[in-house]
Amino acid sequence: MGERVGLIVFVMVLSFSVLTFSSWAEEDKKGDLVVGEAVYKEICFSCHGLKGDGKGPSWLNTKPRPQVFANPNYTSRLIDQYLFEVAKYGKLAVLKRQTPLGEKAVAMPSFGDVLDDDQIRALIRFERGFSNGGAQDEGIREIFNDACAPCHGPSGRGDGPRASEVQPAPREFVSLIQPAPGNLTDLVFMARFSDDFLFNLIKKGRIKATEEAGFDTMQPYGHILSDDELWSVVQYIWETFIDHKE
Ligand code: HEC
Ligand code: HEC
Repeated sequence: MGERVGLIVFVMVLSFSVLTFSSWAEEDKKGDLVVGEAVYKEICFSCHGLKGDGKGPSWLNTKPRPQVFANPNYTSRLIDQYLFEVAKYGKLAVLKRQTPLGEKAVAMPSFGDVLDDDQIRALIRFERGFSNGGAQDEGIREIFNDACAPCHGPSGRGDGPRASEVQPAPREFVSLIQPAPGNLTDLVFMARFSDDFLFNLIKKGRIKATEEAGFDTMQPYGHILSDDELWSVVQYIWETFIDHKE
């Protein structure tokens, strides 16, 4: 990294205006594909898999299972800044809005105060019906429409009315940085979650499901990876698994 620092100093000396420097910094965000591949194959693959299918050697140990980067329904809506911040600060810090750079992220809220345990279990069966074609009880649909549809949409596609004008559904909308809340009709997406995880997610919300019930979440890597390395791995994930930029 010594060379890199040298380059930064060199560019700063040459920059006569802040504008020049910031456009250079913007360029730099793209990272280096070779570095990104090395980082991915050293660290990220163990959970997310060499093919980005979320099935690296450690995948069975995490709850929920690691994100499937090769699933375009979900990842095509991720933006660079979100990928970067999740990898640098960890997902919990992003959801708790503790990162310095980020747009506001929204955590899945808790429903333990308004729904009892049996209703939550029935809701999980209802939710899974979107992706596996199982029966969907009409009584539970009412609960879903009240509690979940404002964000997840009446047909579970993550396109509820909380879409903002800047980001029409079904793009990332509840927050400006995250992808839309889970598209519940997507089997690959739903297969990452056990019933046990879903139960705690709905009852306690995402943050407490992690902090109190001990479920996994993406850990921070900012203490072992430099920003250059993080931007590089973001670029590698894009070009290798998502291959789509809006
Ligand atoms: C020990 C396992 C593990 C390792 C290693 C790991 N991840 Fe993750 N990652 C996860 C899990 C589990 C999730 C799902 C978290 C969730 O849904 O809350 C995840 C999710 C993500 C997400 C998506 C967050 C979202 O909201 O969908 C990104 C981006 C990510 N990881 C990037 C990386 C990068 C980059 C690396 C390597 C530097 C890496 N991960 C290494 C376990 C891991
Ligand atoms: C205020 C908006 C909002 C409401 C209301 C809401 N959710 Fe969510 N939900 C989210 C967001 C945002 C995520 C993505 C969380 C993340 O990035 O980890 C999510 C994620 C999920 C997931 C996928 C888990 C994951 O880690 O991505 C499931 C399943 C889910 N919600 C079910 C429900 C159910 C069932 C209800 C109704 C009881 C509900 N949600 C109500 C915003 C909402």
